Amino acid sequence: MKLDLKWVRAQFPSLKQTVNGHPAAYLDGPAGTQVPQRVIDAVRDYYEHSNANTCGAFATSRRSDAMIASARAAMADFFNCAPDELYFGPNMTTLTFALARAIGRDLQPGDEIVVTTLDHDANVAPWRALEERGAVIRQVDIRQEDCTLDMDDLRRKITPRTRVVAVGYASNAVGTINPVEEIIRLAHDAGALAFIDAVHSAPHCPIDVRALDCDFLACSPYKFFGPHMGCVYGNREHLLRFRPYKVRPATDALPDRWETGTQTHECIAGVEAAVDYLAEVGRRASAGQGDIPRREALLSAYRAIRQHEMTLATRMIEGLLQIPGLRFFGISDPARFTQRVPTVAVRFANHTPLEAATVLGERGIFTWDGNYYALNLTERLGVEQDGGFLRIGIVHYNTTEEVDHLLSALRELVGCEA
Ligand SMILES: Cc1ncc(COP(=O)(O)O)c(C=O)c1O
Repeated sequence: MKLDLKWVRAQFPSLKQTVNGHPAAYLDGPAGTQVPQRVIDAVRDYYEHSNANTCGAFATSRRSDAMIASARAAMADFFNCAPDELYFGPNMTTLTFALARAIGRDLQPGDEIVVTTLDHDANVAPWRALEERGAVIRQVDIRQEDCTLDMDDLRRKITPRTRVVAVGYASNAVGTINPVEEIIRLAHDAGALAFIDAVHSAPHCPIDVRALDCDFLACSPYKFFGPHMGCVYGNREHLLRFRPYKVRPATDALPDRWETGTQTHECIAGVEAAVDYLAEVGRRASAGQGDIPRREALLSAYRAIRQHEMTLATRMIEGLLQIPGLRFFGISDPARFTQRVPTVAVRFANHTPLEAATVLGERGIFTWDGNYYALNLTERLGVEQDGGFLRIGIVHYNTTEEVDHLLSALRELVGCEA
């Protein structure tokens, strides 16, 4: 099961860019990934041949309906759910606010919602907004030494009054993979719903909502090689039971009742192309096994992606830990790398994260500085006032050379020889 990296890189036109004569190294994947040519082609093709609103009695509208149905089938394979158990929208944040508002209509004052210190604020603020309706928010702490969730605290925070447990699959700041299966079980044991933010795990790990048995799960295709938009899985029973705010003429059928207003059809076309791109990665990785179905191809893709990413991450983390004055946040022991994705957060003794990101950026190495909206975490770790972290994110199109280029630039930055 090997990633065909040469083929992978040839799919992404933007990887050919240079900055100040340096080849661009996109280590900014956690903020949004690059897109393969077939996604660009799908968006363009939609505009050229199908551009119309839905449900009209003419050719382009019918083509739009067919395209959306086909994209739903692709995302259903991606989530391992039925096509009517998922809905699209502008981004995860907007979709989560809308879902929280809908769930909030059925909450009673004193009902509790569990959020975490490790999460992106898009999985915190929408639930905190329900305090206005009398909900009580309980926030699970982390273990500071390795930036994992404090599971004892989580068990304490889930009570018979808990109605929702909202937790991330993986941290977009420090890369921790949370034990979501266990958390979902604990939520269900207490009679609560489990909402999973899979935005950060989606480019790195397969999603299987059936195996997880979660109630809702959200992700954003622009983080896994697709266009800028969001997508939510919801258990059918819940999607029918909760009452989203919607306009009166919109039907109550699934998934329409959750897709308020006109969707970005061209992006939906691109989502299908992104899923098909990943399936193609999987088919190439499992070449010789015949034409495998899309879901199976996706699972193969993630096995190959994971192996490649973690080889690079191991090399990168080992190199980072040798840089004098570097502070590393999160899991750094290779024996525990099954509990992380290849996203790391670091700080330097004599340079702010912004200074480091700027120096790297001049050399064509794209990283990120700040809190990336993981505000609870930067506050908890005491780095919010001080520029947050420098975040370096590997995805499957990154290379060993890029990791080495990064490490030598950082060694030069801190004044040890490159
Ligand atoms: C873990 C995580 N959750 C949620 C979001 C918000 O996603 P969106 O930009 O689709 O609203 C992000 C975006 O960076 C993220 O990394």
